[in-house]
Amino acid sequence: MINIPRYERIWLTLGIASIVIFLLLTGFMAVSMNLHPPNHMETIDPRTATTTAPFDSPGLRQIGPNEYELVIVERLFSFTPDTITIPSGAKIHFKVTTPDVVHGLEIPYTNVNMMVVPGHITEYTYTFKKAGDYLILCNEYCGTGHHLMLSRIVVE
Ligand code: CUA
Repeated sequence: MINIPRYERIWLTLGIASIVIFLLLTGFMAVSMNLHPPNHMETIDPRTATTTAPFDSPGLRQIGPNEYELVIVERLFSFTPDTITIPSGAKIHFKVTTPDVVHGLEIPYTNVNMMVVPGHITEYTYTFKKAGDYLILCNEYCGTGHHLMLSRIVVE
């Protein structure tokens, strides 16, 4: 039998026990609470993305009472549409794609932070509770005009 010092044995036991507890908790949440990592992977051909609905006419569309779909196309180096006005308290379903390279879509001081990859449709739902001007920026380095890539949401 190997001689393991007492403190080492205690730490080993604690370490293994915490791994077992973590795995049990993760398994429990996945099975009984139905929690999974996001696996939504809607794809689109980047060569025809801007001529395919809904990306052929980007903008805000009402889809229910106080609920909107916001379609955005990002390209080197702009957002379409440029400035978006939305009513405050409305539920906004972002739908974003790009025909060229990887971009980001971040709205500082909110939870909106997406990675926009050619060939994929990125979706996120967010409700702007406070009225005001929100900055939209690209937070993935996409080329020489990256720092100029911004847009605006006006919540009124
Ligand atoms: Cu687009 Cu950085």
